[in-house]
Order: sequence, then C-alpha cells, then structure tokens
Amino acid sequence: MEIVVSGIRSTGNLHLGNYFGAVRNFLKMQKENHCFFFIADYHALTTHPKPDDLHGNIKQVLAEYLACGIDPEIASVFIQSDVPEVSELYLLLNMNAYVGELERTTSFKEKIRQQPDNINAGLLTYPVLMAADIIIHKATKVPVGKDQEQHLEMTRKFARRFNTLYGVNYFPEPDAYNFGQQLIKIPGLDGSGKMGKSEGNGVFLADTPADIRKKVMRAVTDEGPSKPNQEPSEPVKNLFTIMDVVSDPSTTAYFREKHASCEVRYGEMKKQLAEDIIKVTEPIRLRINDLLKDTHYLGGVVRHGAEKARESASRTIKEVRSIIGYKPF
Ligand code: TRP
Repeated sequence: MEIVVSGIRSTGNLHLGNYFGAVRNFLKMQKENHCFFFIADYHALTTHPKPDDLHGNIKQVLAEYLACGIDPEIASVFIQSDVPEVSELYLLLNMNAYVGELERTTSFKEKIRQQPDNINAGLLTYPVLMAADIIIHKATKVPVGKDQEQHLEMTRKFARRFNTLYGVNYFPEPDAYNFGQQLIKIPGLDGSGKMGKSEGNGVFLADTPADIRKKVMRAVTDEGPSKPNQEPSEPVKNLFTIMDVVSDPSTTAYFREKHASCEVRYGEMKKQLAEDIIKVTEPIRLRINDLLKDTHYLGGVVRHGAEKARESASRTIKEVRSIIGYKPF
C-alpha cells in the first residue's frame, strides 16, 4: 500500500466544491492506501489567529471531514500540533533550505503582497514545514490542488537534497496526486468562476436547507434562451454543471430539453436544484452537528490518530538523527 499524506488548513467551512473536488477523492483513497489526513494548525499560525478562535476552527474542520466519511478507523486523522516530531524534522530540514529559494516561492511572494505588515519567518519556511509533514511519513502520494504544486516540487527537492547530502536513499520523493480526469470543478452561484470559501458564491456543507434554498434561488441566470437549441449562457451552464453532480440524470435531461425548446423556467429549475443539493448536504450537516456535540468522540479520534502518526514519525526522526550523525553517549 502506498503512503498518502494530505494536510487541511483549519480555515473556513467546506463547500460543495471542496466536497466534489477533493473530499470524495479522499474517501476513495483511504480504502486503497495508507492515509494520513491531518489538520495543519501550525501552518494556520502564520496569520496569527486569536487564541479563542484556534481550537474552534480546528474542531469545525475535523467534524466536517469526519461527517463527509473520512474513516478514522482506516485513515490516521490527527492534528499537526499533536505530533511534535514534525517540528523537529522541520528544524533539521531548515538547515538545508536556502533563503533564496524560499523567497522565490510564489505563495511567499503573494503573502508579501497580501500581508505586508506580517512577513514572518514562518511564512518564509512554510514549504519546509509542509515538506516535513509529508516526508516524515515517507509518503509517495500527496492529493493536493494545483495551487500546492510548487510546494510539492520543493518537498521533492528537500528530500533529494537530504539524501544527497548524507549519501543515503532515505526519503522517497512524493508526487502530487490529482485524480486525473475525474477532478470536477464546481462553479459558484454568481455566474462566473469556481466556488470559493470567501467569494460569497458557495453552498457550504453546514448550510441549513433554508440557507441553501435562499442561495440557489438567488443564483445568477439570464433572460432565457431566445431560439431553440441555443447554447446556455455561462451562469446557466454553471447551474447545469452543479445539477450534473447532485441530481438524477433524468432531472438534468428534463431541464436541458426544456432549455433546448425554450420552455425552461429557471425558477422551477432552481427549486429542483436546491432540493437535490439539500439531499447531498443535509445528512452531512446533521452529522457535523452531532459530531460537534460529541467532544468525547472527537477527542478519541485525534488521540488515536496522533498515536498512529507519532509511531510513524518517531521512527523517521530516530533514523534521521542517526543519519545526520547524532549518537547516544
Ligand atoms: N499547504 C496546504 C494548503 O494550503 C496544507 C498543507 C500543509 C498540506 N501541509 C501539507 C497539504 C502536507 C498536503 C500535505 O492547502
């Protein structure tokens, strides 16, 4: 079985795009690989969250992922800061990471623009911590989106550099695993672009049915087709795309035909779409709420997860220390 590691930042609620784009693939992967899924709460510190918010954010993300079906009996589900071995490897890898290459990282340059008053060293070495997260378990596959490709490239570089420096073949070089053709991009409800956490165009898994009906009924459409078999406009195409993933194929076919014959009523179509989205999200929302109430269960999950992660991480740290030349007296 291959080893898979993926980190999830504890910021923002999951939306339909995350669910169909990423989480459903995690669910598939967990059956076929040895998976470590963790909440990257050290990484979250680069933006200085308030102490009162930190724990709640972590808990929310944890509950959402579990509610989607990540199975802590199969995958190791843990919190990054519960595995101190990661910070030791991070320190060791920092010695072979060059300031120049870190400064040239696209995400760092973006952060300089976004938060010029808080360009901390943690931001600069973000890719080193991410590399530590991954190679500490000797992962070979990392399911991440396109925005993380450069970080993964750097992970490979740091792994290779360690091997070369010490003349060993110790760390494998992990590959980004992005599900090939199956990756579905879920558009937002505002007529353009993809669904995002902060764009105000998303349906969240934690949204109530009433929220969802309101959001979908407000989704952007157009004046309606003016001639038969007209190609739907971008906003309408987007609604069909969401329908393709949440609705029964016969429902989608029905509304496509109505569109082609210029008889489509967008109000009716949106009503149907809202109900079909709710069919997907409502069971998840109820599970999120139950899980959030069950602190005892969540505590057990992350303790068990941390135990499994530490077992693998401490083995690596022991070997790495020995490779570097640390010896017991
Ligand atoms: N940087 C990732 C993101 O922003 C989160 C992350 C941290 C991660 N460590 C990781 C992802 C290790 C994959 C593997 O989404």
